[in-house]
Amino acid sequence: MSEALEIIGQEVRSCTKCRLYQGTRNGVPGEGNPRAEILFVGEGPGQQEDRQGRPFVGPAGHLLTEMLGRAGLQREDVFITNIVKHRPPGNRDPMPDEIEACSEYLERQVAAIKPILIVTLGRHSMMQFFGPDARITRVHGSVRPWRNILAYACFHPAAALHQPKYREMLEADFDGLPRALEQARRQAAQQAGAASDGPGETTANDGGDDAGPPSQMSMF
Ligand code: URA
Repeated sequence: MSEALEIIGQEVRSCTKCRLYQGTRNGVPGEGNPRAEILFVGEGPGQQEDRQGRPFVGPAGHLLTEMLGRAGLQREDVFITNIVKHRPPGNRDPMPDEIEACSEYLERQVAAIKPILIVTLGRHSMMQFFGPDARITRVHGSVRPWRNILAYACFHPAAALHQPKYREMLEADFDGLPRALEQARRQAAQQAGAASDGPGETTANDGGDDAGPPSQMSMF
């Protein structure tokens, strides 16, 4: 864990910025590879996560680990966190003011990890990166530019646990993840190339397959 992530973790564990800490056992800052290419962002800790202080360690977490395997990934490869870091009572949806209060931690985690791809798990996480009007049923399995990186929307594993019809869609989302990662890697490489070329110069890739405007970056 990098020093910056350690500090964020300590602050999260003693955070009282919103009501959510009340009645919880542990803040759940997140865990994983501090230099991960992919940052997974879920909704909020559940009962098991609150008990253990770790993200996605309950039933939804086991399914997430399985889905990561489908995409050729292990938990240690990625960083996993949530938009709110304390468990909402009874696993209710996080409220807008709670998401807002917690957003500083996610911002600082993004700045420390510098992922090239953010994978959203669930509707509330998706809306942070795809915008408040985006619909999960429409955007899941697709990427969109977010700042200078990409965001990729997935259904939440818990949805597949509660309603079997979502299982296939969740699997399809994770089957599409390697392709989203390749796209993110190409974009990162292009940006690194453009930065080292300096202002005013062009590269052989300019105008190539992946050089379209952001509106053309949807995967499917
Ligand atoms: N669901 C989430 O969104 N996050 C967790 O950490 C666990 C379950």
